[in-house]
Amino acid sequence: MYTRTPEDWREANRARWDERVPIHTASEYYDLDSFRAGQDVIRPFEAAEVGSVTGKSLLHLQCHIGLDTLSWSRCGASRVVGLDFSEPAIEAARDLAADLGLTPDQASFVAADVYDAAEAVPDSSYDIVYTGTGALCWLPDMGRWAETAASLVAPGGFLYLAEFHPLTDALDDATGSRIAHDYFGRDAWVDEAPGTYADYDAPTVNNRSIEWQHTLGEVVTAIAATGLRLEFLHEHDATLFRRFETLERGAGGEDRGDGFYRLPPGSPRVPLMYSLRASRPADG
Ligand SMILES: C[S@@+](CC[C@H](N)C(=O)[O-])C[C@H]1O[C@@H](n2cnc3c(N)ncnc32)[C@H](O)[C@@H]1O
Repeated sequence: MYTRTPEDWREANRARWDERVPIHTASEYYDLDSFRAGQDVIRPFEAAEVGSVTGKSLLHLQCHIGLDTLSWSRCGASRVVGLDFSEPAIEAARDLAADLGLTPDQASFVAADVYDAAEAVPDSSYDIVYTGTGALCWLPDMGRWAETAASLVAPGGFLYLAEFHPLTDALDDATGSRIAHDYFGRDAWVDEAPGTYADYDAPTVNNRSIEWQHTLGEVVTAIAATGLRLEFLHEHDATLFRRFETLERGAGGEDRGDGFYRLPPGSPRVPLMYSLRASRPADG
């Protein structure tokens, strides 16, 4: 169902996320025991595209329970800050950071709306501003998001984004080969689905979600308008979950066996994820 932006979008989404935090911290999907034991969650393509983070400061916008944020710390970032509007998510991230023995100076977490990040985070700029999968769909205004994220990039630093490709939202769930939805849809997408991607059968009561689809052109243009310089935009033939019923885990492509989901070998492909990096000149 598509409607104009409902006034309660922020409160409804926050209530939905708050309720899902304890489900996620207990889930096999997030597998916190393995994470505490040293398992990394940064995807290989992200590590390659971000490059060395050693000695760098990194801000993670919409960090959820902090696994990616803390993984960047493990990769060598000298200081990581995670921001999310869900208080329970931030509390879980702080607990996890303490479990890893990290000090607040090495890893800290802030509860705030992403649009208020510039006022909420402890430092005025970061070497890397990172935003990971499943984040932008929760935000109605890409221009405001890009301005906020770019304002926190230090001279010589960059914004890195890895997201699910918006084309996947236009294709049918079964095959991913038929256009089923309007790629250019501008209105909020309101849903009431219970459960969560980490546990589809989990009993939940706060099920109202309000999301938006953002075309690739909209996201890239919003970033370009901030004055950051686009270094690359990569489209990937693999994704993190079974987005379409036809996707196979570890099938096809050069990275066969890597645990990513792809269309079966020999099928015509579509982009399933994208990633981009946009930098601020050292004198900028
Ligand atoms: C799918 S998670 C993305 C994190 C990461 N990819 C993961 O899987 O753990 C989306 C996060 O965005 C947060 N979020 C949604 N809308 C937000 C907003 N307006 N401001 C700050 N955080 C928001 C939610 O609380 C949630 O933790």
